[in-house]
Amino acid sequence: MVQNIIIRNYQSSDRETCRSLWRELTEWHRHIYQDSTIGGENLGEHFDNHLSKVGPSRIWVATIGSEVVGLVGLDVSGCETEIEPLIVTEAHRNQGVGTKLVEKAIFEARKIGTSLNVSPVARNTDAIHFFYNAGFTNLGRVELFMDFLNRKWKSHVKLQGCKLNY
Ligand SMILES: CC(C)(COP(=O)(O)OP(=O)(O)OC[C@H]1O[C@@H](n2cnc3c(N)ncnc32)[C@H](O)[C@@H]1OP(=O)(O)O)[C@@H](O)C(=O)NCCC(=O)NCCS
Repeated sequence: MVQNIIIRNYQSSDRETCRSLWRELTEWHRHIYQDSTIGGENLGEHFDNHLSKVGPSRIWVATIGSEVVGLVGLDVSGCETEIEPLIVTEAHRNQGVGTKLVEKAIFEARKIGTSLNVSPVARNTDAIHFFYNAGFTNLGRVELFMDFLNRKWKSHVKLQGCKLNY
């Protein structure tokens, strides 16, 4: 584990880096689905919209030295809190940064006292394993799609006896 990973509250000077991290998150989804339309055109705006929605006190960044290398947020709605987003910049993955960010999110959500969920897309197998190992072992909602865009789906996972493409 890299020793000098610090998790701290978001501050306004982090905005540009956080926009860029969110862009990276969308690029990752574009990559795994081989679909360059995901996220629309102004990718940086997603962070700004999220910041307006949840507020700066529900966003934390990970730093190594003076560099912001990751981002986590909590979106509280009624008796549920969702981890959204979680992203570590590619060059700093597999060094324990994501684990520290998710631990912070869990710590803060426990104080809020709701349930805590996270909704990785079904094809994001790395993220699903990561969250499973972090303790997310209860399966909540399932989101089923009918696709009129003719995307290529992978075959298949089994759930409750149903074969589902993902
Ligand atoms: C998912 C994600 C946030 C994980 O971040 P990360 O910083 O790579 O996470 P960690 O380094 O803490 O853990 C990753 C793995 O590396 C291992 N690891 C941790 N520290 C390590 C180290 N020092 N050296 C080698 N491996 C290490 C962990 O055991 C973990 O293995 P696991 O996934 O089998 O549990 C990151 O991969 C990411 O940003 N992915 C793209 C965006 C995304 O999918 N976000 C989630 C959307 S819901």
